[in-house]
Amino acid sequence: MVVIEFDRVSKRFGEVSALDKVSFRVGKGEIFGLLGPNGSGKSTAMRLCVGILRPDEGSVRVLGHDTKSEARLVKRLVGYSPEEPRLYDFLSGYEYLNFVSGIYGLKPEERREKIDRFVEAFGLEGKIDEEIKGYSRGMRQKVSLIAAMLHDPEVLVLDEPVAGLDPRSARIVKELLKGFKRMGRSILISTHILGVAEAICDRVALMRRGRLLVSGRMDELLKMGGLEDVFLELECKEDLREVVEALLK
Ligand SMILES: Nc1ncnc2c1ncn2[C@@H]1O[C@H](COP(=O)(O)OP(=O)(O)OP(=O)(O)O)[C@@H](O)[C@H]1O
Ligand SMILES: [Mg+2]
Repeated sequence: MVVIEFDRVSKRFGEVSALDKVSFRVGKGEIFGLLGPNGSGKSTAMRLCVGILRPDEGSVRVLGHDTKSEARLVKRLVGYSPEEPRLYDFLSGYEYLNFVSGIYGLKPEERREKIDRFVEAFGLEGKIDEEIKGYSRGMRQKVSLIAAMLHDPEVLVLDEPVAGLDPRSARIVKELLKGFKRMGRSILISTHILGVAEAICDRVALMRRGRLLVSGRMDELLKMGGLEDVFLELECKEDLREVVEALLK
């Protein structure tokens, strides 16, 4: 069953072609990783997937719903954690998560227990009643991830979910995502940490300058020597040579 479907999706920002005829599918119970250099279009793809951006051409469907014409429904089905979470600084972590649970229609009596479980897992107990204003980057990231997962969405879209997290928290996120997958949920993530992609992704796609260069099954890529070897071979080699040559000129 196809849960996320990008069909020849293009998105421009003025002169910049952020996505150029990108197509890929994510199945039920699958973790799909978007990889690629800075500015290659990963976050743009994710924002299109949750209906925050609209494609100029092509279509994005989530569980059969068009993210352009059915954006409200899609937002309810998807849990999204952006690259740079914008939280409400004047609320405490708990107040923020309680507010988000309300938006998603969680009953007041089930909110506390649910929030507490995540807060404990992420080791935020001592901080959750303090104002977000004083949170570190990692703590904000954790609150954003909890907010994405609280309503048990069918689909998770997580932009750089482990960036800025300490090793223990990164481990917890990876285990949580594997748990989501086992429950049949589908996950689209972006990451610059190849080890994270290798540890949890079923399939990955490499993007570059808005194009999807190549996609493949993780087990097959591992047989070919792992992501670093495969990607260096594929694209970075040339890129790096250009960069180094330009610097040495
Ligand atoms: N809101 C916007 N306005 C103008 N240009 C944008 C906007 N969002 C993205 N872009 C441009 O689109 C291209 C793709 O950006 P995107 O953020 O999707 O890349 P990315 O792969 O997520 O990069 P990173 O690894 O740095 O997070 C870049 O050239 C970027 O400058
Ligand atoms: Mg990005």
